[in-house]
Amino acid sequence: SLGRINFDGQVAIVTGAGAGLGRAYALELAKRGAKVVVNDLGGARDGQGGDTAAADKVVREIIEAGGQAVANYDSVSTPEGGDNIVKTAMDAFGRVDILINNAGILRDRTLVKMEPADWDAVMDVHLGGAYNVTRPAIKVMRDQAYGRVIFTSSAAGLYGNFGQTNYSAAKMGLVGLMNTLKLEGAKSNINVNTVAPVAGTRLTEDVMPPDLFQKLAPEFVTPLVLYLCSEQCKASGQIFNAGMGYFNRAAVLTGPGATVGEEGVFPSLEQVAAKIKDICKMDGAVEFHDLNASLGPILEAWSPKKPAAGAASKAPSVADIF
Ligand code: NAI
Repeated sequence: SLGRINFDGQVAIVTGAGAGLGRAYALELAKRGAKVVVNDLGGARDGQGGDTAAADKVVREIIEAGGQAVANYDSVSTPEGGDNIVKTAMDAFGRVDILINNAGILRDRTLVKMEPADWDAVMDVHLGGAYNVTRPAIKVMRDQAYGRVIFTSSAAGLYGNFGQTNYSAAKMGLVGLMNTLKLEGAKSNINVNTVAPVAGTRLTEDVMPPDLFQKLAPEFVTPLVLYLCSEQCKASGQIFNAGMGYFNRAAVLTGPGATVGEEGVFPSLEQVAAKIKDICKMDGAVEFHDLNASLGPILEAWSPKKPAAGAASKAPSVADIF
């Protein structure tokens, strides 16, 4: 039976916690016993400027509610900022159990109009920010042999959204970061998961109809994210969509595919074209745990006994090939 989930004695870092989703995560973590580093640059929606007021306000809210929190105003977009955010946690509380990579900005334009500065700013905050903060945090978590890390993706990255090539690339990049960090963190009991939230915040206020905006409070996303941060949760390497109290899991799926031509002979374009429907089939699609598992069906494509779909993840390791 599941009792109340709490975070007593644990230390959490939430980036971009001065508003929106990050604020909601920070308040609930503190309510449930965590000591929280409230990081926020306090800039504009496009990342310009900065102000200590955003982080300070949330720290005050937490303390007034009887919780423990400290503010940090560094930008996640530089390695120095990332180091300093983790240092803030270590100096104030002595450990880091939870890291929620949440800080985010927008610079929406179609690709043709997107200047390098718009591309770089978004990549630097979302993808660079996750690297800059997670790396020093993982060092601490590895020494503690415990950690929970959240990355914040988006439906724009998972599925696509007009005018957001920079944002989509960064948000899907985070999934790749997670896929590999899941393997590197496993032996240290470090679990990493990704949330793609939908919430009414400053980032979405002008793209959402006002009536919907009200129903999309960040607090509808918080329970899943905090569950993923808990010791009880053993999941790692998973992606979840979350909004309005509706949650589902998303994944990269691979179909059973088809072998084309004759063994040992380069197939022709025409042979590929003739089999394209089989190549595209997704019936019986599977998830692979890692690169090695994904190579199983390729390496066994011409072997006498083809593995059944689903058995692919049990394929022998071929790590020594690389
Ligand atoms: P928000 O704008 O309300 O909150 C983001 C916070 O991050 C702001 O307080 C901002 O000052 C802070 N921030 C920005 N750049 C920073 C930096 N370099 N260093 C430190 N802090 C910085 O927006 P929201 O919606 O709460 O966004 C949170 C995360 O959720 C973002 O990563 C966003 O991309 C993601 N997301 C949100 C969706 C939504 O429907 N609201 C949809 C999909 C993803």
